[in-house]
Amino acid sequence: MPEMRYLPREMPFDELIKVLVAEHAVMSEGLGRMREAAERKDFEGVSLALKQLDPVFRQHIVDEEAQILRLLIGELGLKGAEDEIKVFQQHRPIYRLMQTVSELASKEVAGLASEQLRLNVLFDNHARAEEGRVFPRALRCFGQKHPS
Ligand SMILES: [Fe+2]
Ligand SMILES: [Fe+2]
Repeated sequence: MPEMRYLPREMPFDELIKVLVAEHAVMSEGLGRMREAAERKDFEGVSLALKQLDPVFRQHIVDEEAQILRLLIGELGLKGAEDEIKVFQQHRPIYRLMQTVSELASKEVAGLASEQLRLNVLFDNHARAEEGRVFPRALRCFGQKHPS
């Protein structure tokens, strides 16, 4: 993901998790707008929804990879954090699919319907895995490291 550099946001760890969960809702809503636009064959609407999502997604994965994944690997090792690594490896395929759908929309290719559906499913599963497994584990690791 080239061009603009996104830096990890500095904030308390539990707050960061809350921000990330809130962003899942924002992105899911954006993908919903993309889906509705795709259903109307409103190609501009598809592009616009994805364009709005782009900075949110990029900042989001910088924080997940630089902060959450780093903590988990540090605490659990590469082997121990295998599941989390796998979940975070979905970031590139998701981002590539966002770009693919955006290109299809710019060429007004009607076949983008199936790709955008795949993107929605991929994203939903990803966010569910993070909220259900990765984030709770990261919070536990963090708590052990910083007992209150
Ligand atoms: Fe993620
Ligand atoms: Fe996420």
